[in-house]
Amino acid sequence: MSKRIEAKNVDIYYSKFKAVEDVNMVIEPRAVTAFIGPSGCGKTTFLRTLNRMHEVIPGAYVDGRIDLDGEDLYGPGVDPVNVRRKVGMVFQRPNPFPTMSIKENVLAGLRLNNKSAGTSEQDEIAEKALRGANLWEEVKNRLDLPGSGLSGGQQQRLCIARAIAMSPEVLLMDEPCSALDPISTLAIEDLIQELKATYTIVIVTHNMQQAARVSDTTAFFNIAGTGQPGKLIEMDSTEKIFSTPTVKATEDYITGRFG
Ligand SMILES: Nc1ncnc2c1ncn2[C@@H]1O[C@H](COP(=O)(O)OP(=O)(O)O)[C@@H](O)[C@H]1O
Ligand SMILES: [Mg+2]
Repeated sequence: MSKRIEAKNVDIYYSKFKAVEDVNMVIEPRAVTAFIGPSGCGKTTFLRTLNRMHEVIPGAYVDGRIDLDGEDLYGPGVDPVNVRRKVGMVFQRPNPFPTMSIKENVLAGLRLNNKSAGTSEQDEIAEKALRGANLWEEVKNRLDLPGSGLSGGQQQRLCIARAIAMSPEVLLMDEPCSALDPISTLAIEDLIQELKATYTIVIVTHNMQQAARVSDTTAFFNIAGTGQPGKLIEMDSTEKIFSTPTVKATEDYITGRFG
């Protein structure tokens, strides 16, 4: 299921503003890749090009090429809805649908994609996804209660279950723990470690300890100044980035000198 992503000469625009310039990177399957860098350097923007969410913003577009196992995600005839099914996303703030039950939340993406499944099949999919998100034991007796009644950490795992229910190949997570307490954060980090056996995982994080704990590879992005495009400065094994980075700016950032 897990797939390799390759970005070649990727420039990303919001109308005339070039937000990200010339990114070249390979994201390996069955591994966790962390994106780090100061606010505004384009981490979210780049992440959203990996599942064609960027282009939903009016005037926004992408130049260059992004392949998923060699297949051009932006090729002619590629359906962006299909791309978003294969490349799932979890956002900064847990965003369960407030009027839906826990079970309905897990199945929401499937429903939107018109996959008609029978009731028992739906129950199975929901249980499997909730187990996969380490949430089943906590919610199995209240599947029909609103998802909004869960704690923040549980809501974020519910959103991960919703993404997993689609059987994606890649999971993109944009600062998934930034709204969570330390205990819930650790639960998500443990979950990420388990999920990487099955999915290609990309996580944006502001937390250096988190990047060091959960990722195999780290990509450092930076901006030269306001109005300048963000660039990928250095990408290497997480161990190397956090011990002996090659670029001075990387070292300055990870040691807390800026950002
Ligand atoms: N919807 C948007 N319209 C115009 N510019 C945007 C939009 N979203 C982000 N940007 C700009 O793109 C740049 C990169 O932002 P972002 O990807 O959110 O950075 P990060 O996630 O690293 O903090 C910033 O200059 C930001 O102001
Ligand atoms: Mg961001």
